Amino acid sequence: MEKKIAVIRGDGIGPEIVNEAVAVLDAVAAKFGHTFRYSDVLMGGCAIDECGVPLPQATVDACLASDAVLLGAVGGPKWDAVPKEIRPERGLLGLRGALGLYANIRPARLFPQLRRACPLRPEIADKGIDFLMVRELIGGVYFGEHRSEQADGQEKATDIMAYSEEEIRRIAHVAFRLAEKRRKKVTSVDKANVLATSRLWRRVVAEVAQGYPDVELSHMYVDNCAMQIVRDPSQFDVIVTENLFGDILSDEASIITGSIGMIPSASLGGGTLGLYEPIHGSAPDIAGTDTADPIGTILAAAELLRDSFDLMEEARAVEDAVSRVLDAGYRCGDIMSEGCTAVGCREMGRLIREAI
Ligand code: NAD
Ligand code: IPM
Ligand code: MN
Repeated sequence: MEKKIAVIRGDGIGPEIVNEAVAVLDAVAAKFGHTFRYSDVLMGGCAIDECGVPLPQATVDACLASDAVLLGAVGGPKWDAVPKEIRPERGLLGLRGALGLYANIRPARLFPQLRRACPLRPEIADKGIDFLMVRELIGGVYFGEHRSEQADGQEKATDIMAYSEEEIRRIAHVAFRLAEKRRKKVTSVDKANVLATSRLWRRVVAEVAQGYPDVELSHMYVDNCAMQIVRDPSQFDVIVTENLFGDILSDEASIITGSIGMIPSASLGGGTLGLYEPIHGSAPDIAGTDTADPIGTILAAAELLRDSFDLMEEARAVEDAVSRVLDAGYRCGDIMSEGCTAVGCREMGRLIREAI
């Protein structure tokens, strides 16, 4: 199979973790006889430095002309003072919007080998952690109007949060379809006791549920959900929620599985073109030190093989390789525990390639 992959290395640890993920894809290509052609494109802070904007049109065009997009992370203190219209993060939001990627899927699964990296009490972790966060990605307050003005002698700021029925309906279908193939439970998370968008969310999700009689739907307020994720994560199968709640809850869900550095994400739209990235950011505090954990990005590459290229065996080969390296006791600093062997980013990548 021959496929085109647009590669966005980005800022901070982005280039380090993407190097390892691309090398893993090369190992898969060599083993299974595929050809992956990469086009390197700029987004985020590095694009601001080179082109003056966080998302050059050439990047959007290259992504649209590719079969999938692999991304590291963008942003960092160097660009904190740039005008808000050209912040690095605006590049990422713009790309998600331009590609129509409305569904962001973030797994929370505790590798059995990482029991000791899980911060929850053993009796909670032992009940199992294996759920999916399905986050709406191109609506809500992220994509509403953001305004700041002078009023009564002081600055006043406004962010608009809006959702249409159709925006809710399409993400609800994604959640129910995923749940059908899993433990058949959807928890829809909202703040319907306060927000109009959440009341609409609840009504539309309940309507969509009618088409999935085998799947059990429950509703939960977001504040309760934040608590339940640490109290008893085994109760969740698929969580579906709006953009900002999903952003916050998915970072929380990541840490109960050991580290934010190990969680991949797939952003999907109507077609086969998907964007694959780890859920974490550019980690400026550890950039350039070869200590970033590349596993989240490597598992994102596995998702890319599965979701965009339909290469099931190849995706499994990458996931099994990660599992074997963890079995052998190798850990990056984020999940290091007693008796294990500490390795850096490059070494972790090499071990996973060799295990493929
Ligand atoms: P972050 O996720 O970059 O880092 C949070 C903490 O987790 C840091 O201590 C970091 O060292 C650690 N961490 C993250 N990834 C790791 C990895 N792979 N291995 C080991 N440790 C890891 O979040 P932040 O510090 O709030 O944000 C930094 C920058 O990244 C900001 O500019 C933010 O806007 C941006 N950001 C970008 C993305 C993205 O590109 N998708 C996502 C989140 C944040
Ligand atoms: C993420 C990030 C982004 C988001 C930022 C960088 C815009 O936190 O992918 O989770 O909030 O969606
Ligand atoms: Mn986030």
